[in-house]
Amino acid sequence: MRIFLDTANVDQIKQAAKLGIISGVTTNPSLMSKEAPADYEAAVKEVCSIIPGPVSAEVLVEEAGAMIEQARRISTWAPNIVVKIPATTTGLEATSVLAKENIKINFTLCFSLNQALLGALAGATYVSPFVGRLDDAGHDGMQLVKDIVDVFKHYQLPTQVIAASIRHPQHCVAAAKAGAHIATVPYKVLMQMIHHPLTDIGVTRFLTDWQGVSR
Ligand code: E4P
Repeated sequence: MRIFLDTANVDQIKQAAKLGIISGVTTNPSLMSKEAPADYEAAVKEVCSIIPGPVSAEVLVEEAGAMIEQARRISTWAPNIVVKIPATTTGLEATSVLAKENIKINFTLCFSLNQALLGALAGATYVSPFVGRLDDAGHDGMQLVKDIVDVFKHYQLPTQVIAASIRHPQHCVAAAKAGAHIATVPYKVLMQMIHHPLTDIGVTRFLTDWQGVSR
C-alpha cells in the first residue's frame, strides 16, 4: 500500500517529503481553504513541484460542461496533476469525457460500491471511498474499501482504490489489510504511524546503557 499525504499545507508536505515514503498528495477545497492561498492554481503548482507523484486538485464547479472545462484547465497545471471529480451524476459524465482524453481522474466523495464501480467504468484512475465520514455516519467505512478492492479485482478493473478520510493509525492498518492500493493520510496520522512509545523507551535505554560503559 502506498501513502499519499492528505493536506494542502506546504510545510507539512515538505516535512513529510523528507521521510521518503510519500508517493502523492490529495487536496480538496476545504483543505485548500485552510491555507487561504491567494491563487488556487499557484498553490496547486507549488504542491506539484514538491512531490513528483500524483497530486489531486479538485474541480470547484458542479455543472458537467463547466466541470469538464475546468478539469481540462487544471490538468495542464503540472505533469503529475490528477483532477478530483465528485461522485455525482455530472461528475460521472465529466469523468467519462475526461478519461477518454487521458486526463487522470480521482473519483472522490465515494460512499458506496455502486459509485466506485461507476467511476471505474467511466475510466477514473482512482476512486476515493471516504472511510472516516462513513464511520461518523454509523457505517463501516473500511468494509466499503474492502468491497471495492474485491470487486475491482474480480472484474480486473485497473482503477486504484484510495482509502480516504483517514482519521487514525488503525485506519491505515485496516486499509492495508483490506488491500487498498493507497491510503491518503493527514500529517498528524503519518506522525502517529511512525511513533511508538516502546521505540522511544528502547532508544533511550540503549543510549543510556551505552553511555554507562563508553566513558
Ligand atoms: C481525500 O481525498 C479527502 O481529501 C479527505 O480524505 C477527506 O477527509 P475528511 O473526511 O477528514 O475531510
